[in-house]
Amino acid sequence: MAKKKTDLITREILNTREAAALLKVTTQTIKNYIYSGKLKAIKTPGGHHRVRRVDLEGIGFISEEDTYQVPLTPADMLSSYETIVKTLVSTIEAFTKALDMRDVIFTGHSARVDNISSSIGKSMGLSDKELQDLKLASLLHDVGKVGISESILGKPGQLTDQEFFLVKQHPEIGGKIIGGIDQLRSVASTIRHHHERFDGRGYPDGLAGSEIELYARIIGVVETYDYLRSDLSFRKAASVDDTLREIKKCSGTQFDPEVVEHLMATIGNDGNSSEAVIH
Ligand SMILES: [Fe+2]
Repeated sequence: MAKKKTDLITREILNTREAAALLKVTTQTIKNYIYSGKLKAIKTPGGHHRVRRVDLEGIGFISEEDTYQVPLTPADMLSSYETIVKTLVSTIEAFTKALDMRDVIFTGHSARVDNISSSIGKSMGLSDKELQDLKLASLLHDVGKVGISESILGKPGQLTDQEFFLVKQHPEIGGKIIGGIDQLRSVASTIRHHHERFDGRGYPDGLAGSEIELYARIIGVVETYDYLRSDLSFRKAASVDDTLREIKKCSGTQFDPEVVEHLMATIGNDGNSSEAVIH
């Protein structure tokens, strides 16, 4: 949107004083340009110089009409912000989809965790901004697995102690990766703590109860839900009922009881949350 045009900008022919005002230089400077031949000028019958506005562009003047933007309104700024966030989320969704494909056992895991976590977040009354952070953390919670070899991620059967030790590094690695990105720093701590336990016996920091961020407590429950609901090489996926029963058993020890209650309320009898598609 162009600024309301000023008098001088719309004038095609200017005297040296007006040209100097537009260029924010002295009248003498304009005259020097004219005398040196760098700026074309015409002389009036009275001997005064006149210059054409278009010729000023030849010595570096750019009209405000071309460059000045009306300041954004709050609504414009909100819309720009939302566009940036949408782009960021789409990029992260594509990235995590690619990352999940390395893990043949849990392909689609991040998207499913995002769906169910969002439903729990809504059930808990989180604000739009909080839901946005929860979404980013859910999509990125296992990003630290990028450093784990596919032979371990896709290994049929139980992991050895050494392999399990390596897999357990992923919350810490993920927290460090995301902590290095300014726009995502707020979710780095959630990623680091999504394997903490409510009773303090989780990893990597042994946090307990409300010391663990709410988003990490939500993702911790949902990640286990998705794990139990997935077919593995050494066992079949558990039914929805069995999965919920198993999670309920660990309420108050491994999981935050409040989050567990909201998971129960969110997952319908047919195994689908109101929005999530659970495979
Ligand atoms: Fe994880």
